[in-house]
Amino acid sequence: MVSIKPSFFIFIICIFWCFVLLNLSLVNASVGYDHHAITINGQRRILISGSIHYPRSTPEMWPDLIQKAKEGGLDVIQTYVFWNGHEPEQGKYYFEERYDLVKFIKLIQQAGLYAHLRIGPYVCAEWNFGGFPVWLKYVPGISFRTDNGPFKAEMQRFTEKIVNMMKAEKLFESQGGPIILSQIENEYGPMEYKLGAPGKAYSNWAAKMAVGLGTGVPWVMCKQDDAPDPVINTCNGFYCDYFSPNKAYKPKMWTEAWTGWYTEFGGPVPSRPAEDLAFSVARFIQKGGSFVNYYMYHGGTNFGRTAGGPFIATSYDYDAPLDEFGLLRQPKWGHLKDLHRAIKLCEPALISSDPNIIRLGRSQEAHEFKSRSGACAAFLANYNPSSYAKVSYGNNHYNLPPWSISILPDCKNTVYNTARVGAQSAQMKFTPVYQHFSWQSYNDETASTDDSAFSVVGLLEQVNTTRDRTDYLWYMTDVKIDPNEGFLRGGKRPVLNVMSAGHALHVYINGQLAGTAYGSLEFPKVTFSEGVNLRAGINKISLLSLAVGLPNVGPNFERWNAGVLGPVSLSGLNEGRRDLTWQKWSYKIGMKGESLSLHSLTGVSNVEWVEGKFLSQRQPLTWYKTTFNAPHGNEPLALDMGAMGKGQVWINGKNIGRYWPSYIAKGSCSDCSYAGYFSEKKCLSYCGDASQRWYHVPRSWLKPTGNLMVVFEEMGGDPNWISLMKKEINSICSDINEWQPNLVNWHLKSSGKISRPLRPKAHLWCAPGQKISSIKFASFGTPEGSCGNYREGSCHAHKSYDIFERDCVGQAGCAITVEPELFGGDPCPNVMKKLAVEAICS
Ligand code: GAL
Repeated sequence: MVSIKPSFFIFIICIFWCFVLLNLSLVNASVGYDHHAITINGQRRILISGSIHYPRSTPEMWPDLIQKAKEGGLDVIQTYVFWNGHEPEQGKYYFEERYDLVKFIKLIQQAGLYAHLRIGPYVCAEWNFGGFPVWLKYVPGISFRTDNGPFKAEMQRFTEKIVNMMKAEKLFESQGGPIILSQIENEYGPMEYKLGAPGKAYSNWAAKMAVGLGTGVPWVMCKQDDAPDPVINTCNGFYCDYFSPNKAYKPKMWTEAWTGWYTEFGGPVPSRPAEDLAFSVARFIQKGGSFVNYYMYHGGTNFGRTAGGPFIATSYDYDAPLDEFGLLRQPKWGHLKDLHRAIKLCEPALISSDPNIIRLGRSQEAHEFKSRSGACAAFLANYNPSSYAKVSYGNNHYNLPPWSISILPDCKNTVYNTARVGAQSAQMKFTPVYQHFSWQSYNDETASTDDSAFSVVGLLEQVNTTRDRTDYLWYMTDVKIDPNEGFLRGGKRPVLNVMSAGHALHVYINGQLAGTAYGSLEFPKVTFSEGVNLRAGINKISLLSLAVGLPNVGPNFERWNAGVLGPVSLSGLNEGRRDLTWQKWSYKIGMKGESLSLHSLTGVSNVEWVEGKFLSQRQPLTWYKTTFNAPHGNEPLALDMGAMGKGQVWINGKNIGRYWPSYIAKGSCSDCSYAGYFSEKKCLSYCGDASQRWYHVPRSWLKPTGNLMVVFEEMGGDPNWISLMKKEINSICSDINEWQPNLVNWHLKSSGKISRPLRPKAHLWCAPGQKISSIKFASFGTPEGSCGNYREGSCHAHKSYDIFERDCVGQAGCAITVEPELFGGDPCPNVMKKLAVEAICS
């Protein structure tokens, strides 16, 4: 018999336990999922996430944005990865400044939040070319987003590059980092449907390739119903409650809950009411959803030439909870914060069961969640968009406003209703901080055929010619006019007809601007057809064609043409119509000022600028420069470009983006109700005004003194009207029901400390550094209107102002209980009352 030594046993037991513990810790350290939720450290989580795209703000803004997201109740920050920003030239990478992805993810980690990395690398996102570098189009044999060898090789190379970078920095959760999820591709489902077999093969390949990278965290594919295991398919949209993942063992996730919509040049500015956004999120959670990402939580700015479209505006504000400048958008930010707190109170029940749905009326339902340990949470929904509903649930009655959901984290007491906004709202304003710049100007050339020009027979496609290094391409040709032409002797002027594939066109005849034409996001093509002044002999026709951002979405968007593709013709000549399409054309890529780098600190002195009475005003193709000192304070800054036409602005050599205030917003703007299904066309503003008038100037781009500002104006504008503004709170409002559900009340009631509900408080807080200077309006009773234009209703407590004047004026903020006695007594018993108050901050 072989005798086994006890020490050997101990050794074996040790190995066994080490193995078990190691395995356990591996399980704990990794992110997984099941039918109910994403699991982190083995724990199911209801996760609230928000998109912040790092290049749409500055690294100096990131900590504040992330902190405000955290205070708003977010667990996760989601971002796309922007390939064309990281690899502007093939094989030459850039990860600095606004593209410092590692820094961004580390800041998320430092704030104690998780990250969702949507690598794509196709990202859509209203970003130039959907995130693809333009050089990718010229890789031999390439075809984008399909079963194509060269494309897949490039996509894999970039995806690996990013994954390896994250791994090297230990940023995946499996390595102790913040990244809990990744994404491959973006909304590929509809494309796959169109492409058929090659589409299917490509998405299978993409999923397999991604999973093969071994990140230790799950991958998602959004809008991709057949996402192969283990990839989770997720939903994008204004509402996603109807959505179910393709397998019962995957959680129900919403990767893009649209908080508003993007602005296009020529379009009005969309917004989405906070009540409807909150309703859609509550509706998703009550149907078993466990991950919601706000797209966008902070939209930010399309700096430089990063806007896609074409025609996407420079502002990507998106009506997000944090505005373009990083300020809280109230009441949206606060109303969502309250929603997140309410949802988190329900988490133990939510992660434990599927909802039990109880019908409460024709358009009313309860969704009830229960855990084995006794937790119970209920959502009471009224889908009716126009009427209140009184429902009974359990042993109680509940009053539900139209199109709203009440949240009861204990199945008894309401802590939140999506249509009752307890958070304060804020009216923002732009105030001038610098208005009298002293400008100098330099006139760019109206095309001349210098050394950089080249000629060919016929018309060239623009992107192929410029490779998108500039917006501008000159098309120049000569036209000989016979002295015997009838129009020269008082006849009708000949008409120049130019057909362009997009996006905008300035027409010059013999150096004079003859007209401008442009398309729109929906119809990027341009037709120019106008009478022109020609003289006997040689005439120079110079067409300045402009790209206004490359397309980012649509089947084969990479093949969409831009530029003057013709035909180009002159009609009204003796011979009738003369086709110019196939004659000799000369080309020049970009403006002369661009080739001289006039926008930069080093290039600006390459030409002689003029000033004073020689300053060019209302002249097309004009460069302007000035210097200025940074204004005091730390409020965000913007340029008011209202008096300008179209162009670009640089501050200390950095491009703040394309401006185009002369493109007036067309559309129908009217008051919009939060109730009823939302669409991006429902709530619009600025119809008849500039689509975008104010352009963000990041504070961190300024030095204390001597900042260089350079403007390139294409159409003609008056720079003397350009002013630097600061954005700040003008007034704050609180508009709450006398029995508004609130968190303090809920805690006291649910813990049995009180039996009667407590009244809510009106919270009014100015921005840091500001104080309440006066009370513009206060009424307890039945006030009407909204923040900025309240008026008294038929019932009004005569002492409504007193308490606010006493306790709020002179303070940074205050909280006043909505108690009739404080306003001089109940002005109309047995009537539902509310308080509306507006305070001025300064
Ligand atoms: C989604 C897309 C996003 C963004 C959004 C509209 O379909 O995934 O990248 O383009 O539309 O803002």
